[in-house]
Amino acid sequence: MLTLGLITDLHFGPEAGFAGKLRKLTRSAPGLAKAFVARMNDVVHPDLVVNLGDDIEDESHDADLARYDACVKLLRGARAELVNVAGNHDTAHLAPAELLSVWQRPDLDRLYHSFDRGGFHFVVLHTRERKDHDVTVGDEQLRWLREDLARASAPTVVLMHHSAADQDLRGNRWFEGSPHICLVEERRALRTILRESGRVRVVFNGHLHWNHLDVIDGIPFVTLQSLIENLDDDAPGRPAAAHAVVHLEPSRVVVKVEGAERATYQFEA
Ligand SMILES: [Fe+2]
Ligand SMILES: [Fe+2]
Repeated sequence: MLTLGLITDLHFGPEAGFAGKLRKLTRSAPGLAKAFVARMNDVVHPDLVVNLGDDIEDESHDADLARYDACVKLLRGARAELVNVAGNHDTAHLAPAELLSVWQRPDLDRLYHSFDRGGFHFVVLHTRERKDHDVTVGDEQLRWLREDLARASAPTVVLMHHSAADQDLRGNRWFEGSPHICLVEERRALRTILRESGRVRVVFNGHLHWNHLDVIDGIPFVTLQSLIENLDDDAPGRPAAAHAVVHLEPSRVVVKVEGAERATYQFEA
């Protein structure tokens, strides 16, 4: 069995509102991230810590690089291997090479890759958002994904920032009516590749700042709530403090969403 600690959308940086209301409790980000690391070390003891992206609230190149580095350094305090996924705010002002340098992955030359751990295959995708326009993975990445999954023989976990599900966005305060900036444009083709591999057990993403589950063609697509999302309508606010603990077995996946809004999902192959 393999245990993962998942966290997403930490948004280190300046306060951010939406429609004039305080929505991201960025001021709480470092403290909540520290609490997550302490819980991983004291209670959960995961094999991997997975950071699904949007480490920062983007502002400028230099501020973003300092905050991105600070966020990843803090997560490295967990005594587990750290796996990072690039989010749209992370790449607003920072180049892929800068993210890879903070990830301490000089062996990579792009932000998507795969690896094997503990009897599982892990795929990290890079979903690219053009602000207010679209979210894509591109033909080259789709081709790579098909080939990578064809080579793999282990049960597989996919990690990405935006969602590949067809989510019903009604009630999402950030994305209701705006699927083009939260769902991957090529999601149908991407899901076909995942389905045809026959090995994908679960797909995790962040970005939508809510907890959401879709099961499509037998594959669970799990969206994790942002660590710092304000559960109230405005200031002073109440952070979601969300993270997830995932237990992976070859034919069973158990996801426990922790924080202010808890949930447990269990999937059996
Ligand atoms: Fe985010
Ligand atoms: Fe995002």
